[in-house]
Amino acid sequence: MDVVVVGSFMADFFCYCPEFPKPGETVHGSKFQQGFGGKGANQCVMASLLGAKTAMVGRVGTDQYGTNYLDLFHKYSINTDHVKVTEQSNTGIASVTVNDKGQNNIVIVSGANEKLTGEDVEASMDVIGTSKVLLTQLETPTTTTLKALQMAKRQKVTTVLNPAPARPQLDPDFYKLADYFCPNETEAELLVNRPIKSVDDAKAAVPLFLERGCSNVIITLGALGSVYGSKGSPEVIHVPSSVVTAVDSTGAGDAFIGSFAYYLSHHPHLDLREMIRRSSKIASVSVQKPGAQTSFPSREALSADLFA
Ligand code: RIB
Ligand code: NA
Repeated sequence: MDVVVVGSFMADFFCYCPEFPKPGETVHGSKFQQGFGGKGANQCVMASLLGAKTAMVGRVGTDQYGTNYLDLFHKYSINTDHVKVTEQSNTGIASVTVNDKGQNNIVIVSGANEKLTGEDVEASMDVIGTSKVLLTQLETPTTTTLKALQMAKRQKVTTVLNPAPARPQLDPDFYKLADYFCPNETEAELLVNRPIKSVDDAKAAVPLFLERGCSNVIITLGALGSVYGSKGSPEVIHVPSSVVTAVDSTGAGDAFIGSFAYYLSHHPHLDLREMIRRSSKIASVSVQKPGAQTSFPSREALSADLFA
């Protein structure tokens, strides 16, 4: 495998409305859409759309959302040998509200994702140990995620952690086990406990993460692009992103991370800046369409120089 994802599946329910409702308020929306989501599955799909051989380790429920998800993954030829259908659990659900500016608010109810155990991860050693890149997030239990990172590290598999959704505190081992630690601005803000409102704020946060033990840190900043830094190098670099009009930014972070994992596995000799530039280009394509996976471009829809 090129990329193995230990992570979440969600059924997404999107409501589009001009402005987010305030507490206690009911607003009229303009459109409803259902989709396949979950940060883990989204990232896995993105990497496979670009041409990576992928596998997913996770759990769905016994409902139609889970069944449909397995069908979809078979269609994409994503390996699901280690996706379990969990009795007495619903497939994870995400209620997503998107406003006119393309911003979103998301409530997730983890369901089956919450049942993914360390034993599940151990049982998938065959794919984890033979993959080039392990990619994981925080929509499954943290002990499970930690286990996955530990196993991958032991097998010298490159590890990428997207610490999403945001948690104020992380086991310090997460930093040490991540070859690439990739939060967005809100996640970074919570973890370093200081506001990140600008490129300079983000640049200042990078060394704080490096001190905690990660080898490389990439903080994504939406329209402002991203900043990154690496252990042993004093430089923190800003990579701007292309200017686009956002229709729906849901899943843009996943498009970035999934693309990044693809580049790590398929183009390991590109320099980090170039991998980030290309991943951010692909993420910016995704914000111009509604939905998460429905907005991800396939390799054929992208310019050939992204694959040179
Ligand atoms: O990152 C976007 C995703 O977050 C959505 O697809 C939703 O399922 C939530 O997990
Ligand atoms: Na989108």
